[in-house]
Amino acid sequence: MARLEELAINGGPKAKKHPYGVGPKHLVAELKAVKKILERGAIQFARGPEVMELREKLCKLYGAKHCITTSSGTAAIHTALGALGIGRGDEVVTSSWSDMGTYIAILQQNAVPVLADVDPFSGNMTPESVEKRITRHTKAILVVHLEGNPCDMAKIMKIARKRKLLVVEDLAQSYLCEYNGKKCGTFGTFGCFSVNDSKHIGAGDGGMLITNNARLADRADLFADKCYDRTGRKRDPFLVGYNYRMNLMAAGVALEQMKNLKRLCARRHRLGEKLTKLISGLPAVTPHKVLPKAHCTYWHYAFHVDPGAIKVSMAEFVKAMRAEGVSASPMSRLVPQWPIFRDKVRSPHACAWSCPLYKGKVDYSLKNFPGLQTLAAGGFRMGLNEHWTDRDVVEVAKGIRKVALHYAK
Ligand SMILES: Cc1ncc(COP(=O)(O)O)c(C=O)c1O
Repeated sequence: MARLEELAINGGPKAKKHPYGVGPKHLVAELKAVKKILERGAIQFARGPEVMELREKLCKLYGAKHCITTSSGTAAIHTALGALGIGRGDEVVTSSWSDMGTYIAILQQNAVPVLADVDPFSGNMTPESVEKRITRHTKAILVVHLEGNPCDMAKIMKIARKRKLLVVEDLAQSYLCEYNGKKCGTFGTFGCFSVNDSKHIGAGDGGMLITNNARLADRADLFADKCYDRTGRKRDPFLVGYNYRMNLMAAGVALEQMKNLKRLCARRHRLGEKLTKLISGLPAVTPHKVLPKAHCTYWHYAFHVDPGAIKVSMAEFVKAMRAEGVSASPMSRLVPQWPIFRDKVRSPHACAWSCPLYKGKVDYSLKNFPGLQTLAAGGFRMGLNEHWTDRDVVEVAKGIRKVALHYAK
C-alpha cells in the first residue's frame, strides 16, 4: 500500500496549498440599477417597475404564470400558506432540518409544524417519513429542498395526490434544481424563494413565490400587501394581510443578480459533482447524496463522516480537516429539540398547539428522528460557490481524502 502523506496537523504539507477562489457577490450593474431608481426622485413602495419586471423574469425562468414578490423568503412561504387558507387546527408536514423561516411561516398561521425525518446523507426530508407523519389533520406538505438538492418529488407528489394534500415548495436554498427534468418549484401549488444575501442570488433581503393558479396568486398578492387591491377591482380589505412588500431597490438588485443565475447554478453543479467524484469510495465518508433523477445546484456542499468508522473523535477529525485547509461546519442542528418545539406549550406561539380547533397530537421526541440524529452526528457542509476553481475542488478533495485515510478504522 502506498505510504500516506503526513497530515498537516502532524507537521505534513497542507492539502489546500492555494487560497480559495473569491469574488464579489454584487456588481457595478447593481449600483447603476439602484442609482436609476433613486434618480427617479421617489421610491415606489408597491409594484414599482423593477418589482414587476422581477416577477416577469422569474415567471419566464420557471415557466410559471404568476409571481408575487415579498420582503423575505420567510414572508414568501407565509404568504403561500396564508393564500392557501392553512390555519388553526391544521398540521403542515415539513422537514426536521431547515431554517427558522420555514417554521415561522407555519406558526404565523397558527398551524402546527409536523417534522419529518431526513436522509442523513442529504438532509432532505424523506417521503417515507412524510407519509408516516400524515394524520387526518394534515393539510399540506411543505417540501424543503435543502442545499440546492431536490427531494424525491416523484414519491412526495404521489403521497400528496393519494392523501389529497396541498404541496408548497421551499426553495430558499435551491434555485434551478430539477427532479426528473422538471424544475423544483413547479411541482407544488406554490414555489417559494429567498434573495437574502447568503443565497444563490441575494438582494440583502427579499423573497418571491410562483404559482400557476390565478385565484391563489391574487390571494397571495393581497396577503403580502395588507389586503390592498392594486388591480383596480376596488375590493376593500377582506383578510388579514401583512406588509410583506419587496423594496424596490432590492428588486433592482435582484433583477441584476438574476442575469447570472443560470451561469452560477451551472458552475456550482459542475463543481459539486466533481467533488463528489473525487471523494467517492473513501472509507467513513459519504459524499453529498443526490438522487439519480435529481439535478443539484449546491448551495453548500454537504458530506457525512461516520463516527463509528473513524479512530478519533469527530472533533479531532474536524481539526485535522481544518489543518489541511478544509473548513466544514457541522450540520448538528437538532430542530425538534429547539425550545420553540421542545417547550411548545410555553412558547409565544403555543396557540398553534393549544388551539381548541387543534385536535391532533404531535411528538417532537428525538427518538422519532433517527436520520436527523445520524446527520447531526457526522454531517458537514462547506461553502462551495461559483468563485471556487477546479483547483479548489481538487485540493479540498485531497484534504478530505488524507484525513479519512489516516483516521479510518
Ligand atoms: C430553507 C430555508 N427556508 C426559508 C428561509 C428563509 O428565508 P429568509 O431568510 O429570506 O426569510 C431560509 C433562509 O435562510 C432557508 O434556508
